[in-house]
Amino acid sequence: MRFLVINGPNLNLLGEREPGIYGSESYASLCSRLEAFAASQGSEVTFVQSNHEGALIDAIHEARTWADAIIINPGAFTHYSYALRDALASVRVPAVEVHISNVHTREAFRHVSVTAPVCVGQICGLGLYGYEAAMRFFLGREAS
Ligand code: DQA
Repeated sequence: MRFLVINGPNLNLLGEREPGIYGSESYASLCSRLEAFAASQGSEVTFVQSNHEGALIDAIHEARTWADAIIINPGAFTHYSYALRDALASVRVPAVEVHISNVHTREAFRHVSVTAPVCVGQICGLGLYGYEAAMRFFLGREAS
């Protein structure tokens, strides 16, 4: 499978940013682990991280020409970006939303996701494993 893994604002600071919530592993380390996992499954993964809403939307639009699945952590855009939601709804590529933290145990504004309703599902609270879990979901779905 060809995966697109999208990370939104502030996720480039993984490892430095609020490590009590997001852990101590860096974004670069996350990407190399996911790349190795994808390769072990005969799959390919492309990574996009941006702090800019429009860049994330452009990546989703481009994915419609090549990706089999999108794994997206929209960061705080999750909670209010109708533009990102519309982008996900505009393409036929299925997406799973991932959150490192359990957003439901945090501030009330994080309990709402405007993007999850246009995704196949949402994974949250599993730490960085959530990205691999999403890949395993798509791989299993393709095999069955
Ligand atoms: C996050 C949760 C969001 O509420 C937050 O704005 C993030 C990270 C997570 O992965 O847990 O930036 O998406």
